[in-house]
Amino acid sequence: MSDYTLQLRRYDPESGEQAYWQEFDVDLAPERSVLDGILKVRNEEDGTIGIRCSCQAAICGSCGVRVNGKSVLACNTKLSEAAATARNGAIVVEPMGNMPVLKDLIVDMDAVHWKKIQRVVPWLLPEGDPPEREYIVEPEAMIDVTQSMACIQCGACVSACLSMEVDPEFIGPAALAKAYRFVGDPRDAHTEDRLSDLAEDPHGIFDCTHCFACIEVCPKDVAPMNQIMRLRRHATSDYEIKDSNNGYGHEKAFVNLIEKYGTLHEAQLLPRSFGEGSLVKGQTSPPAVKQLIEALPTAIRGLRSGKVTPRKALLHHKLPDQDQVKRIFSEIEDADERLELNLYIVGEEGEGGAADKEPVSGDSGVEV
Ligand code: SF4
Ligand code: SF4
Ligand code: FES
Repeated sequence: MSDYTLQLRRYDPESGEQAYWQEFDVDLAPERSVLDGILKVRNEEDGTIGIRCSCQAAICGSCGVRVNGKSVLACNTKLSEAAATARNGAIVVEPMGNMPVLKDLIVDMDAVHWKKIQRVVPWLLPEGDPPEREYIVEPEAMIDVTQSMACIQCGACVSACLSMEVDPEFIGPAALAKAYRFVGDPRDAHTEDRLSDLAEDPHGIFDCTHCFACIEVCPKDVAPMNQIMRLRRHATSDYEIKDSNNGYGHEKAFVNLIEKYGTLHEAQLLPRSFGEGSLVKGQTSPPAVKQLIEALPTAIRGLRSGKVTPRKALLHHKLPDQDQVKRIFSEIEDADERLELNLYIVGEEGEGGAADKEPVSGDSGVEV
């Protein structure tokens, strides 16, 4: 047994009082969870502490909190691990971010998380008459969506999402991972409509800033950011959806610049984004000219501070081994089909791993 100090954020909106911190000491074995510690304190010292939980086994997804600033499942975080990242000796536990607090450590999941899940039409939309029995799907056709299906809707990714902090309207990591679950499902007949909807939404797939926070905190390795990138690839490369948010053009600009220089030529990124990758087309597009004019004060500030020089801005050098970058591009372009990395598939091609398995009855070909 060891002594741990839990510092809990207490808040009851109905009391009219400000939020405050309260410390409790618990004597528990190091392998016991933060949730065990909170429940012990609630049972023995203060029955008014608000915490939501059920399974205590990282399955139901209801005990999401922030421990020492990181979004986690309280039942899946050992006291010893939490103590190791505590700054002043106390394990700091507070409610998840990006969602309103209902009481103490309980947030309003309906107001944010579930609202956003509803936004992406989280059910299958097949076409035609339903079959007499179940829909038959090849097992390997479902491999692509197994990762997003593993979500337990805990909201940890929503809590950690930096884009959502800036733009609360952002559909967000959990809901977009859920959207991919249906976009990647061969039984769904509205793939293009779904992609177009998510690309055209100003708070949709192009609102993610690739910060990786959702990947780091997800307790089930759903890797929501990767699902968002898959949605983008389908929207831009497969369906050529030219959205009004300029996501399509921005992606083309990135790809073309890396292919040409090996690193990002910042000065060309904006015009090329408006030109769908082409510099000439972008420089003559009226919206690009407008944005370039709007960006002038920032450029002037950079020049004045010495962070940018005209030479650096205009003359962007190619990488010395740029040919190798070009070779990667041509290999990818020549491939018959795109290979997607799915963390839920174990084994490697040619080594008799799960990815190589012939589908047999009752064998999903994946390990989850
Ligand atoms: S990677 Fe994108 S979705 Fe994930 S937390 Fe960052 S901004 Fe949010
Ligand atoms: S994607 Fe991961 S972190 Fe986000 S709600 Fe699902 S299980 Fe939780
Ligand atoms: S109590 Fe169910 S996931 Fe923690």
